[in-house]
Amino acid sequence: MSFLFDNHGRRINYVRLAITDRCNLRCTYCMPEEGIKLEPKSGLMTFEEILRMMHVFAGFGVNKVRITGGEPFVRRDVMDLFRGLAGIPGIDTLTLTTNGTHTAPHIAELKELGVRSVNLSLDSLDRERFRSITRRDEFDRVWATLEALLRHELEVKINVVLMQGRNDVDLLPFVALTQNCPVSVRFIEEMPFNGSGANPAGGYWDWKRIASAIQESFPGLYKVEDPPNSTALHYRIPGHLGGIGIIPAFSRTFCGTCNRLRVTPQGVLKTCLYDDGIFNIRDLMRAGASNDALKTALLEAAGNRAKDGFEAESRRFSGLPVRESMTTIGG
Ligand code: 5AD
Ligand code: SF4
Repeated sequence: MSFLFDNHGRRINYVRLAITDRCNLRCTYCMPEEGIKLEPKSGLMTFEEILRMMHVFAGFGVNKVRITGGEPFVRRDVMDLFRGLAGIPGIDTLTLTTNGTHTAPHIAELKELGVRSVNLSLDSLDRERFRSITRRDEFDRVWATLEALLRHELEVKINVVLMQGRNDVDLLPFVALTQNCPVSVRFIEEMPFNGSGANPAGGYWDWKRIASAIQESFPGLYKVEDPPNSTALHYRIPGHLGGIGIIPAFSRTFCGTCNRLRVTPQGVLKTCLYDDGIFNIRDLMRAGASNDALKTALLEAAGNRAKDGFEAESRRFSGLPVRESMTTIGG
């Protein structure tokens, strides 16, 4: 087997697939109220195309896939995709990021298919604040999903985008939740990916501020070693069942060990969260490209990779700062 290395010596073994740009929530940090301009359904990669692509990636030693979006379960037949991915030799880690509103009925089967860990987007422990952030009243369903995931003994990571004046009052309650609940709560720096290009205003919650605010109330907070290629800084608190993570998504301190590629719902390959796309895999396939041609294109993209998110941003051919919605990028 040939492995996929980039021009900075980083091995790529992880692909994040945003399978739809649609979402039933409207999180303020992700989308404007009216939503975003959607790709016609015919423009989304079909599951057949995705599976073909993942076979090619698996041939390059990619062993980990995350299904994200948009909200994956908005594509009603998404379990067909999970079944297909679970059958690809070499793919041993199948994961999922979901908003938890339509996830619960599928948990048992996800577990059967080998999914061990699920990332749940949940930005507040308070129903009203949840509603004001997501513009939808779905807190109870998401909470039920969290409980169901734990009942099925899946590893759960809760993603919390921490925002000044919006949910910073949830910081300490989320930390307190980890005392008796075996979840990993990960606080994410807000990125300007909200479909409007507006930069986060006012006192910004960067990873250092998050860490010191936790430390002030939980002086026992201590740093533990981060798993290889992790984007989160890992912490623990003595006596707590769960753990704490901080993701410097905007500070970008983790690029040196980045092992991942992204594919958008439209089939655009991104070698960095901050680039504006390298080439379109869907178009290549629909033009009749062979698997060898796909491999060549992937090798070339990996061979020209920006060294970090800052370089990727500066190379954007649009010349525009990042402003697309996360739902088209695949968190
Ligand atoms: N900044 C930081 N994180 C974001 N996410 C979505 N939009 C943003 C943003 N603007 C995260 C959410 C979700 C994951 C897919 O991406 O927490 O869980
Ligand atoms: Fe939907 Fe996730 Fe975007 Fe919220 S952050 S609107 S749940 S895709």
